[in-house]
Amino acid sequence: MKKPWSGRFKQSTDKLMEQFSASISFDRRLYAYDIQGSIAHCQMLAKCSIISQADSKKIIRGLKRILKEFELEQFKFDDRLEDIHMNIESRLTQLIGPVGGKLHTARSRNDQVCLDIRLYLRNEVEEVLQQINAFTKTLLILARKHTDTIVPGFTHMQQAQPVLLAHHLLAYVEMLVRDRERFQDVLKRINIMPLGSAALAGTAFPIDRKYTAKLLNFPELTHNSIDAVSDRDFAIEFCSNSAILMMHLSRFCEEIVLWSSSEFDWLELSDSYTTGSSIMPQKKNPDAAELIRGKSGRVYGNLLTLLTLMKSLPLAYNKDLQEDKEPIFDTVDTVKMSLTIFNGMIKSARFKKIPLHRVDISGFLTATDIADYLAKKGIPFRLAHEITGQTVAYCLEAKKTLHNITLKELKNISSNFSKDVFDHITLDNSVQSKNVYGGTAKKQVLVQIARLNKKLKIKPKPSGK
Ligand code: ARG
Repeated sequence: MKKPWSGRFKQSTDKLMEQFSASISFDRRLYAYDIQGSIAHCQMLAKCSIISQADSKKIIRGLKRILKEFELEQFKFDDRLEDIHMNIESRLTQLIGPVGGKLHTARSRNDQVCLDIRLYLRNEVEEVLQQINAFTKTLLILARKHTDTIVPGFTHMQQAQPVLLAHHLLAYVEMLVRDRERFQDVLKRINIMPLGSAALAGTAFPIDRKYTAKLLNFPELTHNSIDAVSDRDFAIEFCSNSAILMMHLSRFCEEIVLWSSSEFDWLELSDSYTTGSSIMPQKKNPDAAELIRGKSGRVYGNLLTLLTLMKSLPLAYNKDLQEDKEPIFDTVDTVKMSLTIFNGMIKSARFKKIPLHRVDISGFLTATDIADYLAKKGIPFRLAHEITGQTVAYCLEAKKTLHNITLKELKNISSNFSKDVFDHITLDNSVQSKNVYGGTAKKQVLVQIARLNKKLKIKPKPSGK
């Protein structure tokens, strides 16, 4: 098999070296983008009279035929041709003869591969954005259903203060909204057209880069040919955004694992997203959540792979850069799969009704509200905190909780207590009293649901239904 670069070589490539340097086993997934880019490049060459219209037509016909071969899974890959670019070009020449060799005028694989990755990522980011939207929508609908469900909120994984389940779920929506913004933002830096940079210096042919950009729907051109062929920032940024997204998903997954345990028993996952044990017949394992949590690791790894790949890399193109593809592809696959599975898992899950005594399993979930109660009566908050601490200590000693301590006992601790304290420390009152913007009171949670619905352009259900 003659290599497109074989001119200056006398000996053939070592067999193992051939395998070692080949990327065709993984970069084949870029075929459609490679052809799309080549068609645009060819049209531009003809428009600028660098090749004839007749040659251009022949080349484009050939490329379209090759695209069909890929789609029908008839394309024959050859490892000896190293990568997707040379596989396609070689097939083109096979199909239309030596004129196929004109396609690569004013182009190098160095700018070609950058273009392919940019086209690929641009498409995939759009899909990731859609999936984030779909998942966010599911969470918003779920939150709307639970604006009256009170759950314990935690700090240090200890019962802290009561909150609405809706409020807790909306915390994840906020994270996803930021994730969405990050992916929207990276699109600006992905969506830049590198062709015309050629190997590294630009090209001596009178090409029209703007025309190629227009054909491929790029709003901007790269401004420096050396940077253009060696830049992978946009891919690193994509992986970084993905790592942050997966970190968010992993936190949520961790909670889902906890919530579906018999200790918590808040959530019933559907059979379709859980698995059984081969030895313990009673088990229903939250595998989907565990796997997403686990897969965050490989996405972080991919980010680190890319950063390490680029570290200290001299300008301009170096073959190291071929190693960028697998981490990018793996990140795209993992993020998309995780979002899809997560959405399905949540859509099919059911939150159970949690009885109040289990919400306040510690018996002290509203202790902070006692301190607030005293402070509102004019006692300095630090002192109020101290008195409440003594109240808790008393309860622990007397084997009581805030639910069954009597007014007499309270008054023994501080004369500032009166009967209205009991209304003050109900779970519902505790929640509704957090009526600050961004707080957990139902009123505030509804404000945020409306804001998020608007932001995500979700039409709220007509009221009264
Ligand atoms: N397969 C190569 C890559 O993915 C394409 C660019 C090759 N360029 C070169 N000068 N060998 O990076």
